[in-house]
Amino acid sequence: MSEKRERYLVTSALPYANGPLHVGQIVGAYLPADVFVRYLRARGEDVVYVCGTDEHGVPITLTAEREGKDPQEVVDYWWTHMEKTFERFCISFDNFSRTSTPLHAKNTQLFYRKLKEGGYISEAESKQMYSPTEGRFLPDRYVEGTCPVCGYKEARGDQCDNCGSWYEAYELIEPHSKITGGPAEVRETMHLYLDLPKFSDRLKEYVGGQEHWRGQVKNFILGIIENGLEKRPITRDIKWGVPIPEPGFEDKRFYVWFDACIGYVSSTMEWAENVGEPDRWREYWQEPGTRLIHFIGKDNTVFHALVWPALLMGAGEDGEEPYELPYDVPANEFMNLEVVVDGERRAMQMSTSRNLAVWLHEALDRFPADPLRFYLASNLPETGDVVFSWREFQSRVNSDLIGNLGNYINRTLSFAEKYFGGELPRPGELPEDAREVFEDFKALEARFDSKMLAPRPREALGELLAMGRRANQFFDAAAPWKSRKDDPERARATLYVCSVLLGSIAYHAAPYVPEAVERLREFFDGPIGRVSDVELPESYRVSGSKPLFQRIEDDEIGAAEKQLSDALKGDAS
Ligand code: MF3
Ligand code: ZN
Repeated sequence: MSEKRERYLVTSALPYANGPLHVGQIVGAYLPADVFVRYLRARGEDVVYVCGTDEHGVPITLTAEREGKDPQEVVDYWWTHMEKTFERFCISFDNFSRTSTPLHAKNTQLFYRKLKEGGYISEAESKQMYSPTEGRFLPDRYVEGTCPVCGYKEARGDQCDNCGSWYEAYELIEPHSKITGGPAEVRETMHLYLDLPKFSDRLKEYVGGQEHWRGQVKNFILGIIENGLEKRPITRDIKWGVPIPEPGFEDKRFYVWFDACIGYVSSTMEWAENVGEPDRWREYWQEPGTRLIHFIGKDNTVFHALVWPALLMGAGEDGEEPYELPYDVPANEFMNLEVVVDGERRAMQMSTSRNLAVWLHEALDRFPADPLRFYLASNLPETGDVVFSWREFQSRVNSDLIGNLGNYINRTLSFAEKYFGGELPRPGELPEDAREVFEDFKALEARFDSKMLAPRPREALGELLAMGRRANQFFDAAAPWKSRKDDPERARATLYVCSVLLGSIAYHAAPYVPEAVERLREFFDGPIGRVSDVELPESYRVSGSKPLFQRIEDDEIGAAEKQLSDALKGDAS
């Protein structure tokens, strides 16, 4: 157990409420955060985990226009869909909010006022893209063009999905309207600006001092600061979003990336209200010592590791209510997709517009949450891009989850039931080989801990699998199926030791496969905890044990793969 209880506030990026979730998003911001949070809770840390939908900005209005609906209708539908899908996938948010609430609008305007009081806001003519044929401004995603940094052809108006750069739309090469494809030109319009350069030194010191941050994140941000920050407009010519509390700005709204991260604070406020302690959000945001951790996909890095800390610094300056700055911003890389094309396996970029993606709700129609979580956790893009492959899903689940962990749990429990009536009293003295395997387990548990806290849940999963191998090896070497004939008490002692190991495996597996460990509790009566902590119980009891996982069959994989190949063909024809 940890000596001192730490306070954590963990967030997952707020997904735009404009379409279904796909596995690429899941491995970026949701699954790693959920595994981490479940582990922290089991350790007894003080943790709150918040999220919600991002309901403003052009991603929403574009979808609404395309579908001939109101933006509100679009976000209502997708908020419900996402909440349900997250629940089916066992994502354990303490609160799942949304940014279209009155509380969030108020909170955003408060941040704005504080920034203004601090002298960080200015008003100026701004260059925005304008479509002469449509007769309107084209904010953000209404414009596309070639990325001025990396040359990517389908870069958006405010941000490049390929290299993560953040620029002004007029910097795009050959900008054109996303709606009509027609050319876009620059026009002047009045906007509010955030004075990022004023934060430059403080940001550099803050980011530079984060020894525990991922190298990619830290270097990316330091590079941007090094190149020189510029003032950035935080308002847009758009009718959907948080209203701006300034005369003359009635027809404009805050830029979605101004209010989005504030959504984490709003969601925490809503959580505090729901638990009946409306002021408790302050403990997490304003009391020193909170570990504020934002799990994101790498395309969100600049907003979370640069702009957001600046907003927190500026809004917290009045001395009354300083905000804690992010303790870590674990950004994950991208996930590509393996598709079978004419019998050949190829890794391709996911494309939501071409329906070339693995949608989470559809994957959950095919398979339970546990095996999906297990495979995705074994394949998190923690250090580089990864490929989602249904065939790999099948082999990881069948060989690692079932062949290693499931097999160990199963053989231990069925042996105990079959030969000892499920009763395993503590032996007078532990066998010599028990000490050794306990020592090995303690070392593995320590390694698991440090990887999980890094936070690198994918690497921690490797330690869990090593525990499974070590436990299976113990079972094999002790060979209770032999000793039960000539020395049944020794065999019973072996099974007792096996149950201690099982409790540790279940404890470390629970963040990844929570439903299986819940089921295990129905037939395994014994502590689920670390060998390093557990006090050896009087006895273990097992009754009515069943296998925890089902093998993934070839025909199930064939059907899932065919769906992707068909999507690709449908697109080509
Ligand atoms: N909606 C953004 C996206 O999907 C992420 C926003 S994260 C936030 O890329 F918390 F800042 F909202
Ligand atoms: Zn780019």
